[in-house]
Amino acid sequence: MHSFGYRANALLTFAVTILAMMCVMASLSDNLNTPNTHVQIDVLNVNWFQRHPNWNDEVSLTLNISADLQSLFTWNTKQVFVFVAAEYETQKNSLNQVSLWDGIIPSKENAKFWIHTTNKYAFVDQGSNLRGKELNLTMHWHVMPKTGYMFADKKVISGFRLPEEYR
Ligand SMILES: *[C@@H]1O[C@H](CO)[C@@H](O)[C@H](O)[C@H]1NC(C)=O
Ligand SMILES: *[C@@H]1O[C@H](CO)[C@@H](O)[C@H](O)[C@H]1NC(C)=O
Repeated sequence: MHSFGYRANALLTFAVTILAMMCVMASLSDNLNTPNTHVQIDVLNVNWFQRHPNWNDEVSLTLNISADLQSLFTWNTKQVFVFVAAEYETQKNSLNQVSLWDGIIPSKENAKFWIHTTNKYAFVDQGSNLRGKELNLTMHWHVMPKTGYMFADKKVISGFRLPEEYR
């Protein structure tokens, strides 16, 4: 009895130690991976652009979002959360960020994609700042590992400009 309990305990300790070592190694080896990603975002159309009665601007865009994020995936990657945001400057705020689209990439096979879509979330500015506004379309990603720390990065596509007039 005694010796069985002792051996089971020793085995458990050994298993826990191995597991802890694997977790440390997993997060260490993960950090050696330098991702080589490709992102392209095009505005295919400005569907409409208007000022609401409350003076907030709203614009509807059709986007072509394409990305190859396969290099973010290692054997330690659980999933990757991505979102595309419009980022622009106003007199009040140096950075306004409006999320336009998001998605969860469950596996490496799904990490190379392109999607032709209108903005999934409303692009509303709290004010009427969008006419002729220069903006960046930025893809942000959060890599969720099986063990270890989450990390985030982004790719900025700059040089977009909204129309001067509502339509
Ligand atoms: C969207 O982008 C992809 C990849 O760059 C391209 O192959 C595709 O033709 C584009 N689609 C449209 C509708 O522009
Ligand atoms: C847009 O991108 C450019 C170039 O990366 C950067 O200098 C600028 O600060 C960005 N603008 C905003 C509002 O984030």
